[in-house]
Amino acid sequence: MRIDILTVLPELLEGPFSHSILKRARERNLLEVHVHQLRAYTPYKHGQVDDTQFGGGAGMVMMVEPIALAIESLQQQVSYDEIIYLTPDGERLNQQIANQLSLKNNLLLLCGHYKGVDERIRQHFITREISIGDYVLSGGELAAAVLTDAIGRLIPGVLNNETSALTDSFQDNLLAPPVYTRPAEYRGWKVPEVLLCGDPKKIDEWRHEQSVLRTQERRPDLPEA
Ligand code: ADE
Repeated sequence: MRIDILTVLPELLEGPFSHSILKRARERNLLEVHVHQLRAYTPYKHGQVDDTQFGGGAGMVMMVEPIALAIESLQQQVSYDEIIYLTPDGERLNQQIANQLSLKNNLLLLCGHYKGVDERIRQHFITREISIGDYVLSGGELAAAVLTDAIGRLIPGVLNNETSALTDSFQDNLLAPPVYTRPAEYRGWKVPEVLLCGDPKKIDEWRHEQSVLRTQERRPDLPEA
């Protein structure tokens, strides 16, 4: 999979994909991430990419032309399955959306700033709009990093143990069960007996029960599995 990210702050995206699981995904050529500076595509002086709003009002708007030119230039090299705009008024990201997107080949992510992008970009280029939650970030970069991480780890072959994504929280709309590792007892705090019993069927049943309980307690809003 290839993910291109269009931003005025490429520096913000230098770190997140260079460690751990996403680093391995890139090393195995399962994931390519390309970050592009939007200012490189502007026809205006001094790298201008934003302007005041028509109709007045506080806050700058990202101009249509630099973004249109950038997207069209990238489209000459890559055929995108989706062009995604990260915005607080988009559909709220969840595991199901991450699963869907992890099956695509090429994604372009557009990061907004200030008051957002000129609406004509959304009408004519964007195929999907995604929010990472009901709060406002100062730009779309961290949201693009979250989305890339959520998708990247689901690409087949990225996780070492292929089943481990299947037991994550939110797969099947259930939260993950509690987990324990050595020692079996610490300060008198014991690991549940069943996990030491060696019977995989019993352990699976217990984990499922715990998942259901946790989901009912913490996330009653999730549709029942
Ligand atoms: N840009 C600013 N806030 C955002 C959010 N919550 N989700 C996605 N993009 C954003």
